[in-house]
Amino acid sequence: MKKQLNIIVAMTDKYLIGTISNSIPWALTDDFIKNFVPKTTEVVGIPLIMGRKTEQTLKGPLVGRTNIVISRNTTLKREGFIFVKDEIEAMKVANESPGETIWCIGGAEIYKLFQNTFAIDEYHITIIKDFDKKFSKEEMILFAPNLSGHRLIETVEFEKRDPDPNKKRDRGNEYSFKICVFKKDTFKASLF
Ligand SMILES: NC(=O)c1ccc[n+]([C@@H]2O[C@H](COP(=O)([O-])OP(=O)(O)OC[C@H]3O[C@@H](n4cnc5c(N)ncnc54)[C@H](OP(=O)(O)O)[C@@H]3O)[C@@H](O)[C@H]2O)c1
Repeated sequence: MKKQLNIIVAMTDKYLIGTISNSIPWALTDDFIKNFVPKTTEVVGIPLIMGRKTEQTLKGPLVGRTNIVISRNTTLKREGFIFVKDEIEAMKVANESPGETIWCIGGAEIYKLFQNTFAIDEYHITIIKDFDKKFSKEEMILFAPNLSGHRLIETVEFEKRDPDPNKKRDRGNEYSFKICVFKKDTFKASLF
């Protein structure tokens, strides 16, 4: 059976997803714990596809998942990661991995590459409200999802909150946010 290819991304309403210093300028514990983790751990070994710069932001591989990294540098090696030379090889490895879903987890170059190359089944977009940090044009990494042919099927809202002192590693939600899921409109796709 053909696997589903999904993009999962968090962004502001100005399409900011990160900064040139390879960091994400917000902390949203609930997005990570209640959205990213459960969706990307549905089965052991589920494939995640990322760019080399996103791989470098990780302390180690995301456990229980197949961590596939796209890079033009074919000599790279890191324990727990599978390096591939392009998007075709990434999809080959992902298709041979467990589960029925492939998650494209960024960053901007890889989202754009996948959006322009393959049909994306679902976009899982976390939209941060009232983001108030300022960055210059040069500092910002942006990604604009192409949602034409997709329709909104789910919205879940989360409020800004302080860290829970009883929970280790809880950083709270620095901003209120909503998680929107857009699904490929197969009715429309089959008509046109
Ligand atoms: N908000 C979110 O949900 C989210 C998610 C993920 C990442 N981010 C943020 O996004 C930023 C990183 O994004 P980015 O766009 O700079 O980098 P990226 O997409 O993570 O990685 C870019 C790298 O991927 C490789 N690559 C790109 N196109 C390729 C192709 N056609 N063939 C082979 N390799 C290719 C290249 O690696 P080589 O240079 O090694 O060849 C390139 O330097 C960071 O700030 C990160 O924190 C945000």
